[in-house]
Amino acid sequence: MNIYGRKVILRAIEIKDCEMIRGMFNDPEIENLVVGWSFPISAYQQEQWFCSHAHDEKNFRFVIETEEDGAVGIVTLTNIDWKNRCAFHGIKIAKKEIRCKGVGTDSVMAIMRYAFDELQLNRLDGAWFKDNIASRGLYTKCGWVEEGVRRQYIYKRGKYRDLVIVGILKNEYYDLIKKNHYWD
Ligand SMILES: CC(C)(COP(=O)(O)OP(=O)(O)OC[C@H]1O[C@@H](n2cnc3c(N)ncnc32)[C@H](O)[C@@H]1OP(=O)(O)O)[C@@H](O)C(=O)NCCC(=O)NCCS
Repeated sequence: MNIYGRKVILRAIEIKDCEMIRGMFNDPEIENLVVGWSFPISAYQQEQWFCSHAHDEKNFRFVIETEEDGAVGIVTLTNIDWKNRCAFHGIKIAKKEIRCKGVGTDSVMAIMRYAFDELQLNRLDGAWFKDNIASRGLYTKCGWVEEGVRRQYIYKRGKYRDLVIVGILKNEYYDLIKKNHYWD
């Protein structure tokens, strides 16, 4: 089942998406904004990644697609904890010209609806660098709550950076959609 937002479709990753995803991993601007290792990824490595992530019950990764622009990014639910009903969520939009047009908001709203209404999760976790203004704006708009700061937690570009720990509970998501009428 594909997941529908108001303007995005979240669908399974296909082999044809590998180049778009590889482009994000190899883009210094994007990698500087997200947690994780930064090293060059070859087309072969990307296809191996695709094959090894095809069926994984603890980690879901979807392509964000829009009618006008096709595949524009990825959205994830990883480290799914089926007992405690929580997962880590992340998002990357590949093309700069697509950003600031509400695609991020719609993707986060759609993944929250899927996580809470379909997977019966109770909580989503996230994290952003203190200076990632776009992330803060996006997740604040989507009802996420800042829960703490891991000081000097991630080393990138020659310095340790603070990581803001965030989360949203199922009932907070329901309060949000009642207030903003997102799905009405
Ligand atoms: C973070 C990201 C997903 C946001 O997606 P987006 O489609 O641009 O977000 P939206 O257009 O839905 O914006 C949502 C809100 O975020 C804020 N925002 C987004 N981009 C912003 C920017 N460049 N500067 C300031 N605020 C910004 C605004 O408050 C906006 O709400 P508004 O339009 O009502 O003012 C996108 O910038 C991205 O992929 N960045 C690179 C990877 C990354 O940082 N991933 C997240 C790691 S935690």
